[in-house]
Amino acid sequence: MKKQGILFKYIWKYKFRYLIGLLILLMVDYLNLSVPQITGDIIDGLTLMSLTAEGLIQLVGTLLGVVCLIALGRMCWRYFIFGTSRNIERLIRNELFEKLEGLSQNYFNQHKTGDLMAHFTNDLEALRVAIGPAIISSFDAVVMTVLALYKMMTLVDVRLTLLTLVPMSVIAVGGYYFGEIFEKRFAKKQAAFAKMSDHVNESISAERVIKAFVQERKQDEAFAEINKNNLKHNMGVVQLMAAVFPLLEFVIGASYVITIIYGGYLAIIGQITLGKFIAFNQYLGMLVWPMIALGDAITSFSQGRAAIGRINHVLNEIPDIVDDEEHFDVQKLNGSIEIQNLSFQYGPHLPYALKNINVKVQSGETLAVLGRTGDGKTTLVNLLLRLYDATEGSILIDGMDIRKIPLKVLRENIAYVPQDSMLFSDTIERNISFGRRSASKEEIIQAAKDACVHDNIISFPEGYKTVVGERGVTLSGGQKQRCAIARALLKESAVLILDDSLSAVDTDTEDQILANLKCRRENKTTIMIAHRVSTVRNADYLLILDEGEIKEFGTYDELMALRGVFYEMVEKQRLEEMLQSEEVDHGTDC
Ligand SMILES: Nc1ncnc2c1ncn2[C@@H]1O[C@H](COP(=O)(O)OP(=O)(O)O)[C@@H](O)[C@H]1O
Ligand SMILES: [Mg+2]
Repeated sequence: MKKQGILFKYIWKYKFRYLIGLLILLMVDYLNLSVPQITGDIIDGLTLMSLTAEGLIQLVGTLLGVVCLIALGRMCWRYFIFGTSRNIERLIRNELFEKLEGLSQNYFNQHKTGDLMAHFTNDLEALRVAIGPAIISSFDAVVMTVLALYKMMTLVDVRLTLLTLVPMSVIAVGGYYFGEIFEKRFAKKQAAFAKMSDHVNESISAERVIKAFVQERKQDEAFAEINKNNLKHNMGVVQLMAAVFPLLEFVIGASYVITIIYGGYLAIIGQITLGKFIAFNQYLGMLVWPMIALGDAITSFSQGRAAIGRINHVLNEIPDIVDDEEHFDVQKLNGSIEIQNLSFQYGPHLPYALKNINVKVQSGETLAVLGRTGDGKTTLVNLLLRLYDATEGSILIDGMDIRKIPLKVLRENIAYVPQDSMLFSDTIERNISFGRRSASKEEIIQAAKDACVHDNIISFPEGYKTVVGERGVTLSGGQKQRCAIARALLKESAVLILDDSLSAVDTDTEDQILANLKCRRENKTTIMIAHRVSTVRNADYLLILDEGEIKEFGTYDELMALRGVFYEMVEKQRLEEMLQSEEVDHGTDC
């Protein structure tokens, strides 16, 4: 796509609206130009005593009519052009949002939220000004200038008109020169703004950590610095404007001086009438606005160009995870999973997060994955969901390489409870039915019951209609986890992935959820990442990861018989539990 491709696409789409708007504008400009002519005629008629009372009323009546038409015309072009620019802004915003939704996890790892947010606010605003008000101003400026100059030449005096043009040519040259500087400064201003919103965004989400570590002062200082930088770049733009506008006014002033001296001289020697002299000054006044507007438009165009450049950067991004052209035509998956020689790096220069993994799970089986933090458990899940693509090797589901299964189908067939259970600021009900909007109330309640969160939900004053995070209702970590489990269960998909999803629930509740899972997910595949040995007791297979490699793989009994890492984990946790219960006993003795 060309640099401004998307913009032209939409302007082209609305070309007729623009055209009608501009035609009305042309008409308004033309009418505008007849005003000095009429007033000039009135003045001349009065000074030369050639005007009758009737003639005067007629001229004033025409003047009134023209002024009314001008007002009406202005209303119309505003509707057509400003309205359309707002509509285009809306459409590009939608396109941008859709694009973001389609980009891969990697993109979001590499780009800051504040930066992305700035595209939706500042950049689109700048763009709208460029395709609305700035188009009007520049069109108006050109048309008004040409027409006014024409009138000045034909009605008044050619030499006088040409003289006033000398200072004005300075504006054209200056506009081009300053436009480039503006664009650069504006890009810096936008970048500073993005950085600032990023800081605010991060500070709000990390507010508890900041408080707990008593880092408010440091955060304030860091923010003050970023804010200062923002001001610096804003000032860069303001300073340039401050330099440009007085210059512009100077040039306009120079034009006036020339007219008054030379025009006055022509009036004195009788080459032009007083009425013409006054009309000429009015025309000159009409040139002033377009000149200022042109300066403004040049700034707006520069800002708009910088903005569309930034927006296009996102729009032209090629998502790295997309459907393969040759994909299988499937809808429903059974859920047998085979991982073959799988290795993965998050980046070319980063260490392997997974190395040579080979695992086979039949449809309906439960695989438990254990390991220390950072051993690659979540990475394995990310690859299964195709949030990233494998560096080497492959993952097959039902014998098909997941890269050959349409993304939509793959993800629809996997229900996923992420490690950090994210809920939307919506009702609990809608959070649970997020993956299956068609679910009935009973189904939602059943899923919540299976995830052992139903009792918590009905204890809130508004029950399932409670809006998460509003009016003081904050869900605990465990409640959020269980809502996320309910959300995944409701999806009824062939594969269920629980990424350490029982870490924040007590062991009794955990046992209950596991029992419900066994019942509800019979004959369906479940991958369960866990920390506690108790969680995985009933899994068909256990996979023990160690720094991205398979340390042990087998059934519970096999691994126990092996007397390796897993056996040690079981022993360690058994001892811990024993010690805990002894402590409790000891406590009661006292
Ligand atoms: N987005 C990422 N970019 C780079 N490295 C990552 C990313 N996510 C995880 N890692 C690294 O990959 C390794 C495995 O991480 P992860 O799969 O999250 O471990 P686990 O879930 O077992 O705790 C870790 O060393 C971690 O630092
Ligand atoms: Mg993890």
